[in-house]
Amino acid sequence: MKTNKISIYIHIPFCESRCHYCDFCSSLLPGSNVEKYFKYLRKEIKLHEDFLKDRVIDTVFIGGGTPSSVNSSFIKEIMKDLSDFEFSNDREISIESNPNSLTREKAEAYFSSGINRISLGAQSFNEEILKRIGRIHKKDDIYRALENARSAGFKNINLDLMLALPGQKFSDIEESIKEVKELNLPHISYYSLILEEGTKLFKNHEKSPLSFPTEDEDRIMYHYVVDELKNIGLKQYEISNFAKEGYECRHNITYWKLRNYISFGLSASSNIDNLRYTNYYNFKDYYEALDKNEKPIGFLENLSKTNRMNEFIMMGLRLNSGVDIDEFDKKFNEDFLKIYDKEIETNLKSNLILLEDNNLRLTEKGRDLSNQVELDFFK
Ligand SMILES: C[S@@+](CC[C@H](N)C(=O)[O-])C[C@H]1O[C@@H](n2cnc3c(N)ncnc32)[C@H](O)[C@@H]1O
Ligand code: SF4
Repeated sequence: MKTNKISIYIHIPFCESRCHYCDFCSSLLPGSNVEKYFKYLRKEIKLHEDFLKDRVIDTVFIGGGTPSSVNSSFIKEIMKDLSDFEFSNDREISIESNPNSLTREKAEAYFSSGINRISLGAQSFNEEILKRIGRIHKKDDIYRALENARSAGFKNINLDLMLALPGQKFSDIEESIKEVKELNLPHISYYSLILEEGTKLFKNHEKSPLSFPTEDEDRIMYHYVVDELKNIGLKQYEISNFAKEGYECRHNITYWKLRNYISFGLSASSNIDNLRYTNYYNFKDYYEALDKNEKPIGFLENLSKTNRMNEFIMMGLRLNSGVDIDEFDKKFNEDFLKIYDKEIETNLKSNLILLEDNNLRLTEKGRDLSNQVELDFFK
């Protein structure tokens, strides 16, 4: 029996329009050759046949861009290709979708192809805000898409929401939480906006400053979200992620625990042992490499043990369960408590961390000063 588990990420770089805050690698439909992309994507997966044959696929995440913006037959073909490999019995297979494009037909096609988790990008329930950040869907589309997912058979559903948006007020967060309570979903991601350079929002803000919530307002909203979601059984397990018990996203936990994952498609990044590599960001380079039967890798680095240890701690601190000390010791063949004895002592004294059940985690105070703790442990 194979025990070597692997997670797979598949990037679908197409969207119907570009949201004002987003800098993910994606190209606009129409005008993109979707058929050609999928032909090459399948070729890339095939190039890794030997690697995948030796492993058990535990999680798959089909993300983007917007996977639901393309014809579901493309997604079904990918799922069929993957079915040649072995999966774990309790596999988690997610697909990202947008409210305006997750039709009943698509939800049913996904479910029947073996996908068992939907991640829906709602961002906000406020029509004004949705417009301001360049979303092309309305509040009602969110309900319609959720209804489509549920009636197709999906139980494991996530909703993405955003904090710290321009013009966002505390009352807006209260309103969103009210909606979330009524929707009774098993998973919520609540991301704080990162104002990415080059995005429309960034440029608009440079031209004439937008009214973003202040840092204090942002913290108040964030703590309100954490408390209210906890009250309805959605426990925080990572800075931006909340789930009912058993619904934590196993695929994302793979990233935060620095376990092995392989990714296919434009701009996709893989992490295999100490190797980290990222595929080409533009279609031309991606296609040219695959035409030569080469892996379309644009950047590859061999991470040193110290770098990986730093990363393991940084990612572990994002999780409410914290840095798993046994996992660290086993992964790096080191003694965590010995290497970081001074850092542990000072941060315990400042009430920034807790050491419990062989896990090192941030206290509530530490959560607000997480950068300081991370820097302290950085070697
Ligand atoms: C790959 S993206 C988009 C998935 C899907 N196309 C959508 O728009 O819902 C996944 C999530 O990242 C979040 N996100 C994207 N850009 C962000 C930014 N600049 N700052 C914070 N969160 C962001 C959004 O909540 C989004 O739903
Ligand atoms: S947020 Fe989603 S739909 Fe909007 S541009 Fe980014 S990937 Fe596309």
